[in-house]
Amino acid sequence: RKRYTGLIENYKDRLPVSDNTRFISLGEGNTPLIQLQNIPRLIGKDVDIYVKYEGLNPTGSFKDRGMTMAVTKAVEEGSQAIICASTGNTSAAAAAYAVRAGIKAFVLIPEGKIAMGKLAQTLMYGAEIIQINGNFDAGMALVKEVADHAPVTIVNSINPFRIEGQKTAAFEIVDELGCAPDFHCLPVGNAGNITAYWKGYSEYASDFEGHKAVTDKRPVMCGYQAAGAAPFVTGKMVDNPETVATAIRIGHPQSWDKAWNAQKESGGWFDAMSDEQILAAQKMLSQFEGIFCEPASAASLAGALQDIGAGKIPEGSKIVCTLTGNGLKDPDTAIGQCKDTHPVTIDATLDAVKKAILDHM
Ligand code: F0G
Repeated sequence: RKRYTGLIENYKDRLPVSDNTRFISLGEGNTPLIQLQNIPRLIGKDVDIYVKYEGLNPTGSFKDRGMTMAVTKAVEEGSQAIICASTGNTSAAAAAYAVRAGIKAFVLIPEGKIAMGKLAQTLMYGAEIIQINGNFDAGMALVKEVADHAPVTIVNSINPFRIEGQKTAAFEIVDELGCAPDFHCLPVGNAGNITAYWKGYSEYASDFEGHKAVTDKRPVMCGYQAAGAAPFVTGKMVDNPETVATAIRIGHPQSWDKAWNAQKESGGWFDAMSDEQILAAQKMLSQFEGIFCEPASAASLAGALQDIGAGKIPEGSKIVCTLTGNGLKDPDTAIGQCKDTHPVTIDATLDAVKKAILDHM
């Protein structure tokens, strides 16, 4: 069997690379598609729910898919530095792939509003961290401006190569299931990922650049936002987005038109999840399935469960939820979720351990 060396190598005939391109890769992609076993039974519904566990990418989020392509192309074009605004995951991915490529990474992050794991990663990879007294949207506006004044390549999802890399997640799902799912649920922030999935599903569902169609249908796209940061639900930009799911604390999404296009063409919808719903879904996945994702990721399952309950997603459906990031990214929120759980402390003796076990059987 051939060694897996990343998504560009795997899908190079569907990506904008050539034989001369040096692939900057950390072995991203090829993430598990896990079928939920307990939650469907718990809610008493006959549905096939799969989660695409993107938290197992090299830096712990789906951003690695886009970053391998964006950095590969930046290097191919001779760039010496990349820059992004980020709620944390893009900065971690940019930092890691820049190291791999031997170029510099500058990251703008909202001070005090990124999860601890993401900050730790970005520090360790050695990126130039620029904290701003402002949110992601302010950082994004600055990055777009400064790129006209300094020799840096933007690696946010407005970089089309990010979308190219991220579309491979849809390819993997269809390759594994043998068809497209009926519904695809995912969290929406800056809206690059929903754009990328729709592009991937669309390319696989028709004859495309010399390839025969792989599947005969595309899924209904369901985008879920945090209630305090839900411009696709309110229909207008949000100036002061707030949510516990800091990854999607975004009020001015860059891929506005492309995301609406995915919604319209697929016959899908956007909806808003409260922080309580998001946290409940995160805990449910951990405690009933053994799957630990970060809060923003759980918006996909929260939305799916709500819409299965309401019948918008009918029984008999095959549903994929993208879990965009690893639970370890945000230890503070996780520990906060478990503040009523008190680990016992006992003497280090056999008797005390025996008692602790028997007390908890
Ligand atoms: N889930 C996670 C864990 C994210 O980090 C992001 C975006 C999203 C969902 C939303 O994806 O923006 O393509 O709609 N994080 C970006 C960042 C903004 O800077 O890491 P989107």
